[in-house]
Amino acid sequence: MPQQVRGIVAMGKGEPVGVRSVTVPDPGPGEAVVAVRACGVCHTDLHYREGGITDDFPFLLGHEAAGVVEEVGEGVSTIAPGDFVILNWRAVCGQCRACRRGRPWYCFDTFNAAQPMTLSDGQPLSPALGIGAFAEKTLVHSGQCTLVDSRIRPEVAGLLGCGIMAGLGAAINTGGVTRGDTVAVIGCGGVGSAAIAGAVLAGASKIIAVDIDQHKLTWAEEFGATDHVNASDGDVVERIRDLTGGVGADVVIDAVGHPDTWKQAFYARDLAGTAVLVGVPTPDMRLDMPLQDFFSRGGSVKSSWYGDCLPSRDFPMLVDLHLRGRLPLDKFVTECIALEQVEESFERMRRGDVLRSVVLFG
Ligand SMILES: NC(=O)c1ccc[n+]([C@@H]2O[C@H](COP(=O)([O-])OP(=O)(O)OC[C@H]3O[C@@H](n4cnc5c(N)ncnc54)[C@H](O)[C@@H]3O)[C@@H](O)[C@H]2O)c1
Ligand SMILES: [Zn+2]
Ligand SMILES: [Zn+2]
Repeated sequence: MPQQVRGIVAMGKGEPVGVRSVTVPDPGPGEAVVAVRACGVCHTDLHYREGGITDDFPFLLGHEAAGVVEEVGEGVSTIAPGDFVILNWRAVCGQCRACRRGRPWYCFDTFNAAQPMTLSDGQPLSPALGIGAFAEKTLVHSGQCTLVDSRIRPEVAGLLGCGIMAGLGAAINTGGVTRGDTVAVIGCGGVGSAAIAGAVLAGASKIIAVDIDQHKLTWAEEFGATDHVNASDGDVVERIRDLTGGVGADVVIDAVGHPDTWKQAFYARDLAGTAVLVGVPTPDMRLDMPLQDFFSRGGSVKSSWYGDCLPSRDFPMLVDLHLRGRLPLDKFVTECIALEQVEESFERMRRGDVLRSVVLFG
C-alpha cells in the first residue's frame, strides 16, 4: 500500500519551504523504501529552493541521509529490510562507458527510483539529487542504499551521503592530496571543512583555511587547518602565496562555487598544481580568463562530483575510520533539528551559524 508521510517540499523559486503530505509508493523492481533516521541540511538544498539547480518544482528536499531499509522491490538482493544504510546519489550502473572502463565513480548513467513520489493531489515531486530525504520515508533505487556498520550514530552517518563525502573526496580522490602536500581550501562550511579533514587524513603538511567568516576559520582549525586567511581582509592569492614560501599550494579547493573564488583557487596554485571545484555554480555564472594563463601555469583544473567517491568503497571505509577515532565526523553536527525547522536552518546556514544542521526522525 502507498504510504502517506511528512516531507519538506519546495513549491516554487525562492518560496519558504514547509511540511507537506507526501505519497510514497510501494517499491517496484530494483527499488527500496527507506525509513529515514537522519538527514543533514546541505547548501545544495538551498540552491534547489532558490531555483539554482533546475526549474523542476516542486522538489522534495533532503539528500544527505541515513536510514533503515523498510521494504524492497522485486529482484533486490543487495539489501534487506532492517539494514542500516547511507543513501547515495550516484548509484553506479556498471554498464556505461565510464563503468566499463573501470572508472565507476564517473558513472554517466546513475540509477534513481523509477516511480515518482507525489503530493497528495498526485502531482509528481522531484526528489533532490534523486533522494528526497527530508521525509519520514523515501523511495530510492536499491543501488542508492550503501550498507554500513550500524554502530555509527545516524546523524553522523548521514553526512557521508553528500557534503562531507564531497569535501573529503575533493581532497583525497579528485585533488589527490598526498603526504607532504600543501593545500588551501576556500570556503570552510561543511564541504570545505571536510576537505580539510580529508587533507589531514592524506598527510598534507600545510592546510590553509580561507573563509570570509571568522567563526568558520576557528572551526577549520579544529579540523586540522594549520593556517587561516580571512578572505574579507586582503588579497587571498597573495596570502596563500605568502604562507607557502611565495609559490602557492599544491592543491587548492574551491568549496564556494563562484567565479571569484574559482579564480583565487586557480592562481593560488603552485606551478603544475591542482585546482578543484567542488562548490556548485549557478547557471548565470561565467568565467573570463587569459587562456595563456591556463597554459603557462600548467597542472590541472578539475571538478569534483560527489568527491569522485564510490559509495560502496568509501562509505564503509570512512565509517570505520570514524569508529576508530580517526575521522571526527561528529564535529560537523552543529545541531539536531525537527523536520519543521528546515526553513529556519537555511537562515542559520546563510548567517554562517552552523556547519551542519541535521534533521532527526524519531
Ligand atoms: N560537488 C559536490 O558534489 C557537492 C556536494 C555537496 C555540496 N556541494 C556544494 O558545495 C558548496 C558548499 O556547501 P556547504 O554545504 O559547505 O555550504 P556552506 O554554506 O555551509 O559553506 C559555504 C562557506 O563558504 C564561505 N564563503 C562564501 N563566500 C566566500 C568567499 N567569497 N570566500 C571565502 N569563503 C566564502 C561561507 O562563509 C561558508 O563558510 C555549495 O555550493 C554546495 O552546493 C557540492
Ligand atoms: Zn555507469
Ligand atoms: Zn548535498
